[in-house]
Amino acid sequence: MKVSFPLAPEPEHEASEKGRLLFAGPVDFVKGVVAMNGLPPADRPEVCFAGRSNVGKSSLINALTGRNGLARASNTPGRTQEINYFALGEHSYMVDLPGYGFAKAPVAVVAKWQALLKNYLAGRPTLRRAFALIDSRHGVKEVDHEIMKLLDRSAVPFQVVLTKTDKISSQALTQVIAQVEEALQKHPAAYPELVATSSDKGHGIATLRAIIAGLS
Ligand code: GTP
Ligand code: MG
Repeated sequence: MKVSFPLAPEPEHEASEKGRLLFAGPVDFVKGVVAMNGLPPADRPEVCFAGRSNVGKSSLINALTGRNGLARASNTPGRTQEINYFALGEHSYMVDLPGYGFAKAPVAVVAKWQALLKNYLAGRPTLRRAFALIDSRHGVKEVDHEIMKLLDRSAVPFQVVLTKTDKISSQALTQVIAQVEEALQKHPAAYPELVATSSDKGHGIATLRAIIAGLS
């Protein structure tokens, strides 16, 4: 039977308010981690943002927190090379991951941080949900399936977030949603709801805030 992946509905007033308040509170950069033994203690829930280089992970964290430049965003794919931890007050951690699939760095360096990414996704007990970011202009690619398979095997629920929707028409959005829905049929860990976002225009940001606030 086919699983459907509708867009997340607009949050109810109470959920929306909870999300707004959480992100209006303190958000602090905790640390950049380059090895598993550098991770902060697993003492609270966390969510992470995974996706190909340049998909818009850091921009999305900036949009959620309303603090530009909190997570570095750049035009150079492969910019975020560490696992960056942000604390949402005492509530939870948000984790900005290094991009996969492309990197302007020596092969050995790329191999090292891809290994770190995999170890992190497979072995973090407090990871409540991974947001798998997909560029709405490109849909799900082979490298995305690789990461999704890892999340399936690690039993980490993941939710697809479409990024940069300001760059496409509403017809193109409908088409990419169908492609994503098809691609997700193979992934048992996929949460059956998508979020369409634009960090530039703010679309979907309140919805994502409410989802994160509701996770713990
Ligand atoms: P890495 O750290 O290299 O893995 O990249 P990233 O996934 O963190 O992407 P980043 O947020 O650095 O964004 C990459 C580029 O896409 C930047 O030039 C952003 O300005 C642009 N971008 C990100 N989100 C949006 C969006 O919602 N709309 C538009 N139009 N551009 C965006
Ligand atoms: Mg980044």
